[in-house]
Amino acid sequence: MFLIKDIKLQNFRSHSFTELSTNYPIICIIGSNGSGKTNILEAISLIADKKGIRGTLIEDCIKKDSKDKTIISTTIFYEEKNYKVDVIFESKEEKIKKHLNIDNNKSSLTDFFKDINFVWLTPQMDKIMYEGESIKRKFMDKIISNYNSNYKKNLSNFKKIAEERIQLLKENQDLQWLNILEKKMIDELWNIFIYRRTFVEDINNIIIKKLNNFLKIKLNIKNSYDLDLNISKKDFNSVFEKKYIEKREIDQIIKRNSVGPQFDIFEFFNEETKLNSNLCSTGEQKKILISLILSFILLMKSKNINSILLFDEIASHIDGKNLELFFDEIAKIGMQTWYTGTNKQLFQAIENKAFFVKL
Ligand SMILES: Nc1ncnc2c1ncn2[C@@H]1O[C@H](COP(=O)(O)OP(=O)(O)O)[C@@H](O)[C@H]1O
Ligand SMILES: [Mg+2]
Repeated sequence: MFLIKDIKLQNFRSHSFTELSTNYPIICIIGSNGSGKTNILEAISLIADKKGIRGTLIEDCIKKDSKDKTIISTTIFYEEKNYKVDVIFESKEEKIKKHLNIDNNKSSLTDFFKDINFVWLTPQMDKIMYEGESIKRKFMDKIISNYNSNYKKNLSNFKKIAEERIQLLKENQDLQWLNILEKKMIDELWNIFIYRRTFVEDINNIIIKKLNNFLKIKLNIKNSYDLDLNISKKDFNSVFEKKYIEKREIDQIIKRNSVGPQFDIFEFFNEETKLNSNLCSTGEQKKILISLILSFILLMKSKNINSILLFDEIASHIDGKNLELFFDEIAKIGMQTWYTGTNKQLFQAIENKAFFVKL
């Protein structure tokens, strides 16, 4: 198991100094509103993610009016060894930056550990199921990036080259260089196109095979260019080469690339009603999100990817009998799981299995 064995927060948000020993598979953090539960999950998420579960500015993490440094210190247990993993917040050129130290050396998580992941579910994420295409795409891009580091590189490479193209369109029209850049962008787009479709297929297969007891859903991916799903790389290249040439003039004016990974649209269907998540009730949308997160966790499990699971205010997503089924399903997966809630009663079904922290 991949575990956070202990965690110490210094001057992080509402926590001046909070130290927890957490060498357990299930941890439930209980406390009233504003007691700092989400802040703890946020601290954990910042080990792996630039912005963490709240997605706010790093500056906001510094405890207000604190004089001392903000540090999140943890001991992580991975493949039979303990590692000291610290998130250090420092001000540089008037800005707050954070970096990771692993065993006291500056490092990145993905360089250090292979195949580890952090998955979270927060009440704010409910909006994904009813908001527009771009929110859904961002969410899926994040999930796929966590799962596949090549995909993350493809997305960031595309962004870098795309910026270069805009710069070039603004400054001069070196056509030869423009052609090269556009070809590079199309190579990245092709990988993104393939990875997204493979991922959707993998998730749908896991749902059919493994997601019992929960609402069956189906993911779909379509594109606004009506590309054939079985399109060859050669045809893909020629479609996009033409598009980029067509858009040069307009892109120069609008100062952005109108052709990019945004051509894909993700959809989530309730398999019982066959309705798109956009048309479902709030309750159904929550169920779709739970099914999606669960199937993603099951997919990681099937690929032996180690993960830590963070479920903030789990009772706001799921209730009653389904909550018990959820606890069971997650316990079977066997990854370290952190729950938060306002009272212990919610966790009655796992009272004997979980370690409780009262804030
Ligand atoms: N930078 C900060 N400095 C001090 N307190 C903060 C900071 N950011 C948030 N807080 C406080 O943290 C508390 C919220 O903590 P949170 O973890 O969201 O509570 P909950 O237990 O409800 O999840 C609020 O009282 C808020 O004012
Ligand atoms: Mg909270």
